[in-house]
Amino acid sequence: MILKKIIAFIFQSPYVYQLNQFLWAGDFFPKIIELGQIQATEKTLDIACGTANAARYVRGQYTGIDLNDNYLDYARHQYPRAKFLCLDFNDLKFDEKYFDCTIVTNFIHHLSDTELGQLLYKIRYFTRDRMILSDLLPNQLNFLAKILYNLDQGNNIRTAENQEKIISRYFKIEKKYTFFSPRKIYKHIVFICIPL
Ligand SMILES: C[S@@+](CC[C@H](N)C(=O)[O-])C[C@H]1O[C@@H](n2cnc3c(N)ncnc32)[C@H](O)[C@@H]1O
Repeated sequence: MILKKIIAFIFQSPYVYQLNQFLWAGDFFPKIIELGQIQATEKTLDIACGTANAARYVRGQYTGIDLNDNYLDYARHQYPRAKFLCLDFNDLKFDEKYFDCTIVTNFIHHLSDTELGQLLYKIRYFTRDRMILSDLLPNQLNFLAKILYNLDQGNNIRTAENQEKIISRYFKIEKKYTFFSPRKIYKHIVFICIPL
């Protein structure tokens, strides 16, 4: 759809991305990071970190990777102590169990089931302790939610059951939690997972 292409182009700007987050999603990262209980002594990797909004709340050593260098430049400026790499997740190469914790937020609905399997396989290899994975859940609660979901760049918004089914091939799900974004537009699920 042409409108989606225009939106994708506009969203290359980190400022547009941040404004959109502020308007419709709000800051849900404190909730996600609190559930993940990341410690100051831990090494954390954030895959498809975008503008790295999670970095504000992650204690300890933070590394973010993303394909969009505009987002990463913004993040480098905001979080000078963090490390950022412009990389496709498919090209990630870290030693086995290199990171204590891996975060993936709002990314998996951009991936097909096969791509998601490839991502989880990689994460399981270089994650020692746990993965914190959060994504959207279907929500057609109100008119605005319907519009914004339809305009989302990701075409694979899965039910909780479908997300669980794929994750459980690679991880044991220890905890899960669902919540609405502050403006009740987006419904999120968070999984805290242990590598199998
Ligand atoms: C919806 S944003 C989520 C950003 C961030 N995790 C958050 O929750 O705010 C999806 C991000 O995935 C990144 N991305 C898309 N395909 C990617 C890939 N193959 N490897 C790494 N990052 C990718 C995009 O550049 C974008 O920043």
